[in-house]
Amino acid sequence: MRQIQVSLAKRSYPIRIGNDVLADTAALASLVMGKQALIITDENIAPFYLPAIQAALQSKTVQTLIFPPGEQEKNLVRFTEVMHVLAEMKASRDVTLIALGGGVVGDLTGFAAACWMRGVRFIQIPTTLLAMVDSSVGGKTAVDLESGKNLVGAFHQPVAVLADLTTLKTLPERELKAGLAEVIKYGAAFDVGFFSWLEKHVEELLALDETGLTEAISRSCRHKAGVVSRDETEQGERMLLNLGHTFAHAIETEQGYGGFLHGEAVAIGMCLAARLSAQLKRAPAADAERLGNLLKRAGLPTSLPAELDSEALLMRMKLDKKALSGSLRLILWRGLGRADVVADVSETAILRVLSG
Ligand code: NAD
Ligand code: GLY
Repeated sequence: MRQIQVSLAKRSYPIRIGNDVLADTAALASLVMGKQALIITDENIAPFYLPAIQAALQSKTVQTLIFPPGEQEKNLVRFTEVMHVLAEMKASRDVTLIALGGGVVGDLTGFAAACWMRGVRFIQIPTTLLAMVDSSVGGKTAVDLESGKNLVGAFHQPVAVLADLTTLKTLPERELKAGLAEVIKYGAAFDVGFFSWLEKHVEELLALDETGLTEAISRSCRHKAGVVSRDETEQGERMLLNLGHTFAHAIETEQGYGGFLHGEAVAIGMCLAARLSAQLKRAPAADAERLGNLLKRAGLPTSLPAELDSEALLMRMKLDKKALSGSLRLILWRGLGRADVVADVSETAILRVLSG
């Protein structure tokens, strides 16, 4: 098992990565300090992994909430349901919430933990590749509104992240590929050496090779933990983790959260950001091509479908959380491994890239 520490100003917490992480039931139980726990998961995940988590916590008073799967469920209605269940449980300040699932369950559970009694403990048990390398780490929690993704949320860090690689065996292939988009993001934004490593090993990752996955997840988490330790609340460097995300969130919102998966939208968004950087003569066009090729090999989309209207996408992009006083800030790059924040990108240039 590998362990990476997320070190914050006031405390730190571990990310445990390996094949037997959930088999250590004593370790899981010891993270629940009080008597009460609420496990939140979804209908796809529960049949596989819920019984083992419940068995590990049999000495505690445990409630479970199982939601339907999907981005459409990451909303204020589901959040309110969690609040009512906590109230029915008479949950006290020492209750622990447990997110068993992908980024949807993790973001919703984290936000509920941030709000109940102004903040209680929560554990992330990510069961998708995307959640293992990104959403479970770093304390960004949120739900979506119809008008925009993740608009209601809080920074609230988990007490631990338990990433058990065996859970990926039941993950649908499309979801695995979507997770690879966020893995590739770390190489594209920060680490050309990691990008080259991914170019050599992407097929092994698609085949769930254990050594390759452990390496890819650990390297991704090291990047994420480093950035979050230096900039927990996204005052600067953390924005770089959003390479491609302003485009991606606009695509997801425009599709009503039922079209591309988040990772797929991020793959398209990163390609658009790379192409825009090349058009603005900030970065070599060859790097944009290299990024597109790797994403294609990972089975990911790299361009916008024709039915998405570029003007509508631009309007959505203006609601992005990085925008200040209505002015867009985008994450562009100077080439592989060198992302930066750019204000005042011309709307004409953005529209040109959006319309292909
Ligand atoms: P997801 O949570 O929707 O999970 C993907 C699908 O796989 C779901 O249908 C789920 O039921 C199923 N599933 C999950 N684990 C499984 C398993 N082991 N076996 C079988 N089925 C399984 O999607 P995701 O890609 O994990 O997360 C996307 C969400 O994460 C988005 O809402 C995105 O905004 C958010 N996100 C948040 C952050 C952050 O920093 N908080 C970062 C990146 C993404
Ligand atoms: N996924 C971007 C971040 O955590 O900041």
